[in-house]
Amino acid sequence: MDLPAAGQERVSRRRLLGAGILAAGLAMASSLLALAGRFLLQFTGREPRRQWVDLGVLASFPDGATTARLYSAPGDGETPPRPRRVYVVRRGLQVTVFDPTCTHLGCLSHWQDPAQVFFCPCHGSAFDPEGRVIAGPAPRPLEQLRAEIRGGHLYVLGA
Ligand code: FES
Repeated sequence: MDLPAAGQERVSRRRLLGAGILAAGLAMASSLLALAGRFLLQFTGREPRRQWVDLGVLASFPDGATTARLYSAPGDGETPPRPRRVYVVRRGLQVTVFDPTCTHLGCLSHWQDPAQVFFCPCHGSAFDPEGRVIAGPAPRPLEQLRAEIRGGHLYVLGA
């Protein structure tokens, strides 16, 4: 068996150290590129953009009730406009708008007026009128959408 000469072993260690430094540098560079890519993606419009949508005059939402409302979510150039449903819970001038998408696996929940709950038929999750989980596998409350009353109309920041 041939043993490497002392000088040859030193060169091989240097090469190994150099290769390690090169690999670490490449890993850092690829991480930086991934971060830069994620930063630039926000300007490409691939993330769902939200726009203010007029849901109608505030008077069309009965006080003390939970009302379903359909609107046409604006397209973004790549996707066409599509119908969306939200629920408006009105208590006087306090208005809360819920996205009824169940936080379990994304089925649509429906308001059940007699029971005063949002119910998801897929796996039985239920949410109270404030959107909190009261039954089922849903891990989080229903999403509340940003809403504003302007000029007597209810606007929602919808996706
Ligand atoms: S998707 Fe609603 S309970 Fe599973």
